[in-house]
Amino acid sequence: MRTSSSSRRGRSPLSSAIACLPGDGIGPEVTTEALRVLDNLSVDVEIQELPFGGAAIDALGDPLPPETLEACRAADAVLLGAVGGPRWDGSDVRPEQGLIGLRKELGVYANLRPAASGDVDLVVVRELVGGLYYGARGVKPDGTVFDTCEYHPDQIERIARRAFELAGERSGLVTSVDKANVLDTSRLWRRVVTEVAVDYPDVELRHALVDSTAMQLVTDPQTFDVLLTENTFGDILSDVAAAVTGGLGLAASASLGDGGPGIFEPVHGSAPDIAGTGTANPAGMLRSLALLLRHGLERGDLADALDEAVNEAIHLAPTPDLGGRATTAAFGDAVVAELAANPRPLEAA
Ligand code: IPM
Ligand code: MG
Repeated sequence: MRTSSSSRRGRSPLSSAIACLPGDGIGPEVTTEALRVLDNLSVDVEIQELPFGGAAIDALGDPLPPETLEACRAADAVLLGAVGGPRWDGSDVRPEQGLIGLRKELGVYANLRPAASGDVDLVVVRELVGGLYYGARGVKPDGTVFDTCEYHPDQIERIARRAFELAGERSGLVTSVDKANVLDTSRLWRRVVTEVAVDYPDVELRHALVDSTAMQLVTDPQTFDVLLTENTFGDILSDVAAAVTGGLGLAASASLGDGGPGIFEPVHGSAPDIAGTGTANPAGMLRSLALLLRHGLERGDLADALDEAVNEAIHLAPTPDLGGRATTAAFGDAVVAELAANPRPLEAA
């Protein structure tokens, strides 16, 4: 565990606290670059690194140790690498349980996953603390295993409001994704979203089925603005959206609740196949850091500068997933150099 302050030792009343959870696989490698970049930004933060996921199972037998949860609750924002790996496949406690538990504990029901490239500019707004991930599950006496999808109307209403508010600041279109031709939860979803839409007359609402949306994301991704969807559909569609806008290595996410600390993490997983090779693309993590600066620390100025630097680094120092040969650290170097070459005026605290 490490505690450090990028500009002052000890936490001043003005400094912000970031709980940093590197996790497993390439998680620690991309997190190292994020902390290095943060060190080069003029922001007064105290960073506390904490065990999480498989690493925490190995060290403490618990993917979300109480001390980690407490530090996250007390922080202004949580920066998270990735969890999981084949190593814990057979174990009773899985690393992913730590992530699913943390999301619920922090109440971060709104998962924003931007995907942009060329004429495509969309955001997946994924409900994050309901549905199949959190419904009743078990084994029946005959050996049948079940997971259940449950949604309360209030859970749908609050995520729908987020999506409409976001669309109002963007191109004004919400595409609500469901499987209303089959599922009762989807029919409820469609009804509640339609009711919420009345409060946002400037935003257009379209309903779409998840299967055709998956296809349209591949064939015509530029037709979407805000894609509003439940937890499992959002998990799948956000990977598709990432794939058609440059790949999983570039995709970032912000998970927000009402007021408490948000979780900022790349969309990619722990990528055990390339862990330890120093070739992971840290762009998704660095863009997640930009989302942290924007939504968690209200430093949109630094977020803009970082996003621009990452966009440059994608051209200057592409990692193997982008067809280049740069290492994780070389990509980080390029971002740091870009930030130094384009200094922003210091904003008064
Ligand atoms: C994601 C990941 C997680 C999810 C896993 C690691 C539990 O795939 O953030 O998209 O399914 O939510
Ligand atoms: Mg996923």
